[in-house]
Amino acid sequence: MITRSLAEQLRNAQHVVVFTGAGASAESGIPTFRDALTGLWERFDPAQLATSDAFRADPSLCWGWYEWRRHKVLQAHPNGAHLAIAELARHVPKLTVVTQNVDDLHERAGSQDVIHLHGSLHSPRCIDCGLHYMLPLTSEAQPEGGGRIEPPRCTACDGHVRPGVVWFGEMMPEGAWSLGLAAAERCDVFLSIGTSGIVYPAAELPLRALGLGATVVHVNPVRFDVSSQEHFLEGPASMMMQNLLHEAFGDHPVS
Ligand code: OAD
Repeated sequence: MITRSLAEQLRNAQHVVVFTGAGASAESGIPTFRDALTGLWERFDPAQLATSDAFRADPSLCWGWYEWRRHKVLQAHPNGAHLAIAELARHVPKLTVVTQNVDDLHERAGSQDVIHLHGSLHSPRCIDCGLHYMLPLTSEAQPEGGGRIEPPRCTACDGHVRPGVVWFGEMMPEGAWSLGLAAAERCDVFLSIGTSGIVYPAAELPLRALGLGATVVHVNPVRFDVSSQEHFLEGPASMMMQNLLHEAFGDHPVS
């Protein structure tokens, strides 16, 4: 429930951190990470696809899955949650968006300087020499389910081109973690939206913020336990964020 005191804390905040997970993009039609393995992909475990060992063992399987996701993202539009977050930046002195998502829906909604802890679907690079590529989608990456797609070869070293996302066991992009952590440690309100909070170190950010006295708010349609110092807004991100903006600043819904 959005209490009067929560609305007031947001209204008076000097620095707000918005931390998002796959649930923030769910209403744009992007399956959440742990729901994503549907259709052709349902027999795979995320850990089978999201590691560099998996890519090296079966590049066309892994590349096909990520190209299918990229296709879905390119077809999608920012939803009310992305728009409300961009709108929130106009009401508070400082707002930092830190996301675990590999899509660009925050940017397309108008958020600036988004910190991507887990990289981006749109920045593939050579798995061997690291050369970056801008690749158009091929017609093979159909949204109906996709399938195997042979990844391109690097023009410099002939290595396979891999997705620009962070896989299990890999380091986060240089700078992203330190910027995200610094923001979490300095903010006075921390909004954690649409994340299962099970993938570390990203999931440490709300804990750090809470430990340093920030007001921590979780937004999720699926209830989980939080401490008595935290707030839980139970519902879809778009509705809860628009309601929060309305309560704190009297804004009309954005869509
Ligand atoms: P998950 O798929 O683990 O969790 C998505 C969360 O969103 C769940 O808690 C859902 O209940 C919630 N959710 C679903 N619909 C929602 C809605 N409309 N509004 C708000 N919340 C909703 O996704 P993440 O927490 O982002 O990392 O996963 C974290 C990381 O795990 C991903 O970045 C990815 C994965 O491994 C890497 O690839 C390194």
